[in-house]
Amino acid sequence: MSKIKKTIRKSALRAAITGVYGYVPPDVLSNAELAQMVDTSDEWIFERTGIKERRILKGKGLGTSHMGAQAVRGLLAKTATAPADVDLLICATTTPDFVFPSSANLICDMVGIRNIGSFDVQAACSGFVYALTIASQFIETGKFRKIVVVGADKMSAIIDYTDRATCVLFGDGAGAVLLEPSPKYGIIDTLIRSDGAGMPHLHQKAGGSRMPPTAETVAKRLHYVHQEGAAVYKFAIARMAEVATELMKRNHLTTDKLDWLVPHQANKRIIEATAERMKLPAQRVMITIHKYGNTTAASIPLCLWDYESKLKAGDRMIFAAFGGGFTWGGVYLTWAYDPR
Ligand code: ACO
Repeated sequence: MSKIKKTIRKSALRAAITGVYGYVPPDVLSNAELAQMVDTSDEWIFERTGIKERRILKGKGLGTSHMGAQAVRGLLAKTATAPADVDLLICATTTPDFVFPSSANLICDMVGIRNIGSFDVQAACSGFVYALTIASQFIETGKFRKIVVVGADKMSAIIDYTDRATCVLFGDGAGAVLLEPSPKYGIIDTLIRSDGAGMPHLHQKAGGSRMPPTAETVAKRLHYVHQEGAAVYKFAIARMAEVATELMKRNHLTTDKLDWLVPHQANKRIIEATAERMKLPAQRVMITIHKYGNTTAASIPLCLWDYESKLKAGDRMIFAAFGGGFTWGGVYLTWAYDPR
């Protein structure tokens, strides 16, 4: 385990999640359908990953911002927040609509949020934890009072549906949360880490400034996710557990006091191994991977959206994520509201 850093904040104001909303596209891609496309089976996929099906965004001209905007529209309506009252919007994504402008900019325009700061955060599957960490600073300092944090990814845009080792894992979706100041509930501690030496194991080879797109890069299928599954798996298991146990240790949090683990949904076996190291029973671990697969930056907010009706004000929870980069991180917080 890495050295425990003393970075716990002492602000009187906490950044609390005061609403959550999710969006998954209607089209379902089942394991049985994937077995028609590549040499795989429902049994292999379910046993090795826990995934049964995932959602795919179809429709010409629809990108990540389409799903993000759906989630934000739902969030604003549900929390009775006027677009004009939002102070900042951050979108975590690895599949932005364009290199520029940011998907955050596009989402603001689509939902009628004008004249505020908005930007994307790119940290692969840890993106939502990174974005939440950034957003919470603005609330704690008193600079902003209403921040929308979106996690959205259209992974189907960068997945090679001839590569059985990756195409079975990913799905599309978006989730959004509203962050507001609270004297009582909210984010208590955050942790973000990275190690760029992990790049060879998980990256997209072409399309960036190092290897701009050409007819050759397209022909060689270099615009898709390249993942060395077994190597990434090893890192993911170690880092997810490290995040959770470090947050528990430095906040003097024992397992009996923790109500929920909200893990990034990459593989059910990684989630189970993390919970096992924390000695946390399965009923306190959020799981959506069976129906959505790995939705990258959307997976943690989609968990919150799915489990919202079970959550109570004061519930203690840890978010833990690991992804390409490598990146990893976590958030320790108390939930701010009872089921509505
Ligand atoms: N169907 C059938 N067989 C398959 C499939 C499939 N879909 N995919 C791989 N196999 C085969 C392999 O070819 C290999 O066969 P071989 O032994 O004949 O060579 C065998 O199954 C075992 O392959 P492994 O890669 O060792 O399988 P593993 O049990 O590790 O599972 C998986 C693969 C699911 C990808 C796993 O390694 C994993 O979850 N890795 C981590 C993913 C992750 O956490 N990513 C980070 C987030 S993603 C992001 O940030 C964008």
